[in-house]
Amino acid sequence: MLLLSILFALTVGGSDTVISAEETVEEKKSPKMLVVYYSRTGVTEKIGGLIAVALDADQEKLIDKKDRSGAWGYLVAGKDAGFGNETDIEPQKHDPADYDIVIIGTPIWAWSMAPAVRTYINQNKGSFKKVVFFTTSGATGYDKVVPSMEKLIDKEAIFKNGFLEKEVKEDAPGMIKKLNNMIEFIKGTI
Ligand SMILES: Cc1cc2nc3c(=O)[nH]c(=O)nc-3n(C[C@H](O)[C@H](O)[C@H](O)COP(=O)(O)O)c2cc1C
Repeated sequence: MLLLSILFALTVGGSDTVISAEETVEEKKSPKMLVVYYSRTGVTEKIGGLIAVALDADQEKLIDKKDRSGAWGYLVAGKDAGFGNETDIEPQKHDPADYDIVIIGTPIWAWSMAPAVRTYINQNKGSFKKVVFFTTSGATGYDKVVPSMEKLIDKEAIFKNGFLEKEVKEDAPGMIKKLNNMIEFIKGTI
């Protein structure tokens, strides 16, 4: 009888242990994160890259097939963004539907998101679970552009912030602080 009791205790205890071990593995599974951005001159790319490294996230740089270089490219870029035009973008490597959090960055053009980002959001509508938005700009605040991104994606971002070109280029303390806040917030959602 004593032997039976010990066997029973071991079996129950053992199976409990197995279940809790599986649960622990399940609980610790980190969410998949993707950082997507368009960048014409590298500012948004710098922030996107830093976020991706800090979060161990995959990266997707959007490539606009339209030539945005030079003075003419700048003018047409401003016109396209201001009118809310889409553009042709290269096919992407990652499917946002495979990710728990997608972090999307855009430079602000004519108080709007860049056409490549507009196109990406439109092409992937319905594939996003949680989103974070960030902008880079000469002066315009993210609050001028992020609401239109949220409207387009039909989802409120869990976090949003903006970086100024100057502070990004100078690695200014203010930029590092904003970046750390953003990363800490995202990590806190895990
Ligand atoms: C066509 C065009 C329009 C722009 N319009 C704005 C604007 O409305 N407000 C602003 O603060 N910066 C504006 N900028 C500056 C960019 O937002 C800024 O340089 C940004 O950080 C560039 O990011 P990137 O290097 O990733 O392309 C504009 C830049 C371009 C090329």
